[in-house]
Parts: sequence; structure tokens; C-alpha cells
Amino acid sequence: MTRIKTINFGLINNDNMQVFYDSTSFAQYIESQKVLHKTIGFAPTMGALHAGHLSLYEAAKKENDIVISSIFVNPTQFNNPEDLEKYPRTVEADIEKLRNSHLVDAVYIPRVEDIYPNGMKSNHYDFGGIENEMEGAARPGHFDGVGTVVEELFRQVKPDNAYFGEKDFQQLKIIEKLVEVLKVNIKIHGVKIHREDNGLAMSSRNMRLTDREKEVSTVIYKTLKKVNDWFRVISIPEIKNRVTEIFDRKDMTLEYFMIADENTLKEVDFFYEGKNYRAFIVVNVDKVRLIDNMHLK
Ligand code: PAF
Repeated sequence: MTRIKTINFGLINNDNMQVFYDSTSFAQYIESQKVLHKTIGFAPTMGALHAGHLSLYEAAKKENDIVISSIFVNPTQFNNPEDLEKYPRTVEADIEKLRNSHLVDAVYIPRVEDIYPNGMKSNHYDFGGIENEMEGAARPGHFDGVGTVVEELFRQVKPDNAYFGEKDFQQLKIIEKLVEVLKVNIKIHGVKIHREDNGLAMSSRNMRLTDREKEVSTVIYKTLKKVNDWFRVISIPEIKNRVTEIFDRKDMTLEYFMIADENTLKEVDFFYEGKNYRAFIVVNVDKVRLIDNMHLK
């Protein structure tokens, strides 16, 4: 892989996107922007970029002087070694996409030692319990890994605003808690789920699906839409039965489906007026884990 380092602090525009591969040169860049009082919008990623990521930069560009992205496949948030190994890594193509998007001023692609100078281990966080629900229960240690990498990236990027997709709704809530716990002045923005024309939520993991698997996976979004129609009409346990029946099929496995309070992320069996609820679903197609969710109206 050719590693191109461009350090050009004075000239920042999107045609001249800068790429940083280490924390020292990146820190100098951030300093140069802070001196100029530029506001920074930040969207961290693990690469394998798609239109969903671009919608984060679009939102960031509207509200900040400069937009920064990071690409780092964070080992500590993977509890399954095979998932980490198979996670798509497409850095050169990602840089090209970012450059062509004209949305991003700088991309930071740190080395492991830039993020974990004292060895690769996670901090432990208390996010008031939401870290133990859903993905926290299914993937032990996952949110400690996410919190650790995002805390370190926030420390290095020093953003004013940070952007996260609603596809990982629980992660978004965790990051909102993280800035409270850390007492840092960073505004967290959730960005709506970006979907393929057929409804499949955009995800870097979709790259691992065959065309046929992509087609059959559209049942996930179709089911969420049905759930939204059934909500407040039939009971939540009955909705769960119907969803379980839909996924009684050989080409995919339902890992979990639940309706939860959007604030506590606790699963509910009945709803109260005036509260917000969301349906969450995780489905495994072959060995690809697909997650999706929908706010219920
Ligand atoms: O959502 C992701 O891509 C990752 O969890 C994040 C926020 C970049 C942390 O590694």
C-alpha cells in the first residue's frame, strides 16, 4: 500500500483532503485548526465506506468549518475474532471515496499504537445500565471497546460536533452518555439510517453478502415496517411471535428481536402513551451479522 502523507496546514479545502497516518502529524494539524478557531465536525468510522457514511459527513459539513473522518478497525470492540478478521478493509478505496465526496477536509488513519500507546485494552465504563442491554448482552465487552476508542479519538480530534448513524442506535446512546461521563463539550448528533433502494440498511458488513443474500435480507426492513403497522394494534408479545414466525427460515437466523423504550433501551411487553419506542433486530445471514432498528410511530 502506498502511504501518502500530505501536510499542508494553510490550504484546507475539500479538493485538497489531507491524510494522516500517525498521531504526531495529526496533532499538529488539529493544533493548526484550533489556532484559526475552526469548528470541527467529526465522524469516526471503521472504513469500508458507503453512502451511509457520506450522510454523516454531509450533516457535519452543514454545521462546521472543517470535517474530519477517521478510519480505524478497532480490535477491542470485537468479541468474535472471526468477525474482526473478516471485517472489510478497503483503505485506498475509502480515501478515494472521501476525496471524491468533497465533504471531508482531513482523514485520520491511526496505527494501533496511536490509539493504544499503553497496550490494547479497554477502559471499563458505567453508562447507567444501557451498556448491558441488547448488543451489550449479545457482545460482552463491545461497548467498553467502543467507549475506549471513541474517548481516545475525541481526545485527539478535539471535535465540537460528532456524528453517529442511527443504525447503531444503542451505540449512539452510549456515546451520548460517554460525553456526559467524560464531561467534555462535544455535541453528539444522530443521523438517520441510510438504506439501499430495496430497504436494506447500509452497512460495511453488506460487502460480505452475495447478491442473493442481499436480496433475501430485505425481509429485515419489510418486517420492521410490518412491526410499525402492528404496534399499538396488537400486543407486543403477539408482535414478537409473528416476527419469530417470519424468520423461521433456513437462509437466515433471527438472533434477537425486541421492542424497547428509546431512553432506557429496556425491552418492554406493553407501552405507555407519551413514551418513545423502537424495534431492534439482529439477523445472521450465513456468518454476517446484520442489525437494524426502527422508531415506532
Ligand atoms: O460505528 C463504528 O463504525 C464504530 O463502532 C466506531 C464508532 C467508529 C468506533 O470504532
